[in-house]
Amino acid sequence: MCPPRPTRRNVTEPLFNTATQPQPVPLATSSSLTGTAPPSEEEKTISPSMQINTQRFLELIHAEFPDQLATPRADTLHRRTFRIDHATPDNGCPSSATLPKLLHLLATNLGQKYDACNARLYHNSTPWQQNKLHEMNTSGLAYVVYSSNDEPQMFLSFLICEECDIRKQHDQHQVLYLYEIQIHAAYQRMGLGRTLLHHLRRLVPSINSNLQLSVYCIELTVFGDNHNAIRLYKSVGGKLTFGSPKIEFEVENENQRVTRTTAAARNARSSRCRFVIPLYFTFYIT
Ligand SMILES: CC(C)(COP(=O)(O)OP(=O)(O)OC[C@H]1O[C@@H](n2cnc3c(N)ncnc32)[C@H](O)[C@@H]1OP(=O)(O)O)[C@@H](O)C(=O)NCCC(=O)NCCS
Repeated sequence: MCPPRPTRRNVTEPLFNTATQPQPVPLATSSSLTGTAPPSEEEKTISPSMQINTQRFLELIHAEFPDQLATPRADTLHRRTFRIDHATPDNGCPSSATLPKLLHLLATNLGQKYDACNARLYHNSTPWQQNKLHEMNTSGLAYVVYSSNDEPQMFLSFLICEECDIRKQHDQHQVLYLYEIQIHAAYQRMGLGRTLLHHLRRLVPSINSNLQLSVYCIELTVFGDNHNAIRLYKSVGGKLTFGSPKIEFEVENENQRVTRTTAAARNARSSRCRFVIPLYFTFYIT
């Protein structure tokens, strides 16, 4: 997609702490969402993602996502699904070549953005590709990949996990976190991104009724300047989460930064003001 799923939640913190984050967020408490400590073994056992049987989850995905997609390019893409499952690695895990291929597609689409902000995202000096590959190997992440001639042309990855800032005072905290949606340039702007989101949305009630969970919505992170993706999410009703970074006004030459909604911002009409786009937004889609 997408910058990595943020840890909770100081925007100046690394979005993704590769030392601590690769496990699904445990169900325990919202303080766990700061990502400051790896989940204990005990916590891991109550994580929603860890509780789910991989085969059962993949069956639900198969029921929702068509095994073939005819594209406007008059070809057909073939579906493949798998789930990273460190507990039972024989359980449909991908071959060692699969994730690097998906990373290659992601790098072709968004490599320049990651190059530009690797340090801000991960707060380490490791190449972003290595950080990303680590994240893509998060246990519990499910993948839907559509390929032609065995070459991935688009894919989604998502994880059922706990979040706390979807909406103020909302008591349902499980979300289907969309880690990636990547479509090869040759297939973009043909309605396929919207189609994939449509199927993902329909997966939510299916998860709830079949796995006895209370997933409220899809949540995702998007680079603040990824206008095409933001248009897509808004076009399907996506909204900023309560805790998402927001656009701010910055008043030049004054050490002052105010939110868009304040009276000061409303009155600030002079050319000394400019918008500051955050590195990322988090959206939710119900
Ligand atoms: C962003 C992305 C997933 C969109 O998928 P897509 O199949 O190209 O988008 P769709 O054809 O389904 O378009 C759906 C809507 O998204 C918006 N949109 C998508 N691409 C757009 C573009 N290039 N210019 C303007 N609007 C665009 C439009 O609102 C569009 O609706 P419309 O066609 O009725 O105007 C895809 O372009 C992609 O993979 N981009 C690179 C990777 C990326 O940015 N992933 C998202 C990271 S969060």
